[in-house]
Amino acid sequence: MPVLNRIAEFADEMKVWRQHLHANPELLFETKETAAFVTQRLEEFGVDEIHQGFAKNGVVAVIRGQADGPAIGLRADMDALPINEVRDLPYKSTKPGVMHACGHDGHTTMLLGAAKYLAETRNFAGNVVLLFQPAEEGGGGARVMLEEGVFERFGIAQVYAVHNWPGLPVGEIDTNSGPSMAAADQFDIHIKVNGAHAAWPHLSVDPIVVGSEMVLALQSVVSRTIDPHHAAVVSVTRFHCGNTYNVIPDKALLSGTVRTMEAEDREAIAKRIEQIVNGVAATHGAEVKLDYRFGYPATVNDPGATAFAHKVATDVVGAERASDAHAPQMGAEDFGYMLEKVPGNYAYVGVGDTAGLHHPEYDFEDAAAPIGASYFARLVEQAQPLNR
Ligand code: NI
Repeated sequence: MPVLNRIAEFADEMKVWRQHLHANPELLFETKETAAFVTQRLEEFGVDEIHQGFAKNGVVAVIRGQADGPAIGLRADMDALPINEVRDLPYKSTKPGVMHACGHDGHTTMLLGAAKYLAETRNFAGNVVLLFQPAEEGGGGARVMLEEGVFERFGIAQVYAVHNWPGLPVGEIDTNSGPSMAAADQFDIHIKVNGAHAAWPHLSVDPIVVGSEMVLALQSVVSRTIDPHHAAVVSVTRFHCGNTYNVIPDKALLSGTVRTMEAEDREAIAKRIEQIVNGVAATHGAEVKLDYRFGYPATVNDPGATAFAHKVATDVVGAERASDAHAPQMGAEDFGYMLEKVPGNYAYVGVGDTAGLHHPEYDFEDAAAPIGASYFARLVEQAQPLNR
C-alpha cells in the first residue's frame, strides 16, 4: 500500500497546497510568501514549535512524540527557478519568468503532509524536526541554516530528504548508498594580453589561441588525472573573446563547471586545472588569473541510513517498487552539506513521464505527494518507535 490511509484521506487537500505553491513561486532566499503559507499550515496542524527566519525565509518546526528520544530531521526545499513557464495549467505561475520547474512545490507539500499526519498521530518517540529551506537552486540555503546552528539547536542526529524524479514511475522510491549527487564547483579563467591588428599577429599574444589550447588541455583532466572507476566532469561552458574581424583581442574569458563524487578527486582536479592554465599561459607569455570556487559538496548517503531508508521505502511502496541501486547523478544538491554533518539519506520519488527537471514544461505530479508524505511519516515512526 503506497499511501498511509490517513494521508490518503487528505490527499485532495495536499493537491490544493501544491497547486497554490506552484502558482506562487519565489526565488532563492526570497521565499517569504511560501514560508508564510507553510507556517499557516503548521499552525493549523498544531505542531509544537515553529521558528521562522532561518536562512532569511526558512521555517523550522518541531513535533514532539509521546516519549523521550532523539531528534530526526526531515528537509524540504521551497524555492523556484528563473524559468518562464510555458504550459497553460489552471495553476500556472502568476509570476512571469519564475516557476517551480524542479518540483520543490511538491517537496514542500510532501513534508507538510507528513507534518499533518505526525502532529495528529504522534506514534513515535523523541522529536521530528521539519526543515523547510530556501535557496537550494544556487544560494546554498542548507549551508546557511547549518551555519546558523540548526542541527545543534534542535539536536538533529540524522536527516532525510527526497527529490522527485521524472522517468521513475509514480509509486516508486529509489536511493543508493554512497555518493548520490555530485559536488559542483565553478571556475573563471581571465586571459590578458596585448592586443594587435589582426594583420600583424607577431606583435601580440592571441588570447583565442591561448584559450583554445586551454580548452583542449582541460579535456585531459578527467581522462588522465582521475581513476577511471570514478565519475567526474570538467566542462568549459563559456568562451568570450573578441568582437570583430581585424583585431586580435586583448582578453578572453573561459568559464566552466567541475563535478566530482569523491573529495580527493575534487582537490586533484582543482590543482590540475591551475597547473594547466598557468602552464599554457606561460608557454605563450599571456597573463592569466584563475578564479576557482568550490560550491556544493557531493551528496553522500550514509550506508546504514540508506539501508534503513530503503527498508522504509520497501514497507511503503513494496519491494518491487523500491530500489537501493539508483544510478548516481552528476547534478548537485545542497542537501550534501547536511549529510556532511550527520548520517542520513537522499531518496528519489517517482513522478512518471513529466518533462525533465528545470524544463519550462515540467510540472510536479500531484499523485506522488501522498507517497512522499507516507515515506517521510514512516521514516519517523520506524527510526524512533514508541515501543522500543
Ligand atoms: Ni531540485
